[in-house]
Amino acid sequence: MGNSKMKSNNNKGTKMIVRFEVNHRKYEMELNPGRRLLDVLREDLGLCGAKESCGLGECGACTVLLDGRPVNSCLVMVGSVMDRKIITIEGISGKGANESGSLHPIQRAFVESGAVQCGFCTPGLIMNLVPFVESRESAEDDEIRRYIAGNLCRCTGYVKIVEAVQSALKWKREGQWSNTDLYAKEKEAHS
Ligand code: FES
Ligand code: FES
Repeated sequence: MGNSKMKSNNNKGTKMIVRFEVNHRKYEMELNPGRRLLDVLREDLGLCGAKESCGLGECGACTVLLDGRPVNSCLVMVGSVMDRKIITIEGISGKGANESGSLHPIQRAFVESGAVQCGFCTPGLIMNLVPFVESRESAEDDEIRRYIAGNLCRCTGYVKIVEAVQSALKWKREGQWSNTDLYAKEKEAHS
């Protein structure tokens, strides 16, 4: 696991050293603790998968996992993530993120179900749904709709998104999650 020491020059005001982990890589950065996690991810680390739409915690476009739980990164001050673990959409697929270098099952389900149109909401939805699909084997459509109520999508009407979640859960029940279960491995490593 790499250990990068980086210095950010684009933040003003009192700074502090913040240590945290993003996508299994350790960082130690001098930052204004009041900066938003979303901005540090996008501007300092070049991880632009998390999107900004409302900037108010109302749309879910900026969702990332913080210690395994979905959060709106536009509402998280970077000073509060000391020694914590963040996973972004860049961290759940591709070489270096898992052994197979393939899409996470919920990503594959979105593609195969046609649940992506403009795609702006997609990274936030996926990051919110990763713990949902990894923690169960089935769900009612209404339960899925309630769970993603904080993720706004202007394009799809949510029908295809719900179908995608059902597909991912069906593959799981049928033992077709050939993709490395990244989070199960992480949980095992820290249990
Ligand atoms: S940009 Fe963070 S919730 Fe909308
Ligand atoms: S696919 Fe366009 S906002 Fe959801």
